[in-house]
Amino acid sequence: MLKIVRRAAYVLIALVLAGLGGVLWWRGEAPRLSDIGVAIPGGVSMGGPFTLVNTAGETVTEASFRGRWMLLYFGFTFCPDVCPTDLQTISAALDKLGPLGQRVVPVFVTIDPERDTPAVLGEYTKLFDERLVGLTGSKEQVAAAAKAYRVYYARAKSRDSSDYLMDHSAFIYLVGPDGGFRALFRHGMSVQELADGLKARLQAGS
Ligand code: NI
Repeated sequence: MLKIVRRAAYVLIALVLAGLGGVLWWRGEAPRLSDIGVAIPGGVSMGGPFTLVNTAGETVTEASFRGRWMLLYFGFTFCPDVCPTDLQTISAALDKLGPLGQRVVPVFVTIDPERDTPAVLGEYTKLFDERLVGLTGSKEQVAAAAKAYRVYYARAKSRDSSDYLMDHSAFIYLVGPDGGFRALFRHGMSVQELADGLKARLQAGS
């Protein structure tokens, strides 16, 4: 029962965040600094420690990225469109930033660790961008990381259990050199919007 309540809470948070993103989009205003990221409701903590496994099979934590900016994305390699779109946007935005973009490590965390083994994830991330760090882990490790970032995910119902899809919230998280959460970007931003948002925050410093 507690699990259901908790899941409902995550869905609610995802819907609120998606709604805020939608309102910003609907207003159709030129992006200002305050509009670029999605606002986090007051009192909601975001981010924190995680323990995961990289594509070499090594254990990594949030401390492994200290001193560098991290652009964190949660998804899965079998995702037909949402993840590939956002990963391409991330890659292109970092290219657009030039030397500034080199201060950011793009990180893809799978929410489907059963199929996304380190080897599968390694092949996938290489396809998108050599800079992209792929992280997986045990079901529990992935669940804990997703929980810290308020990521909603669930296996979508399908007749064939070996060929399932995952429902998941799709946000891009900017994490500062100290490991602290900095900004949330929504799915479907243009490359220019994401690049502008990142530039503003990177230039503002840590
Ligand atoms: Ni996806």
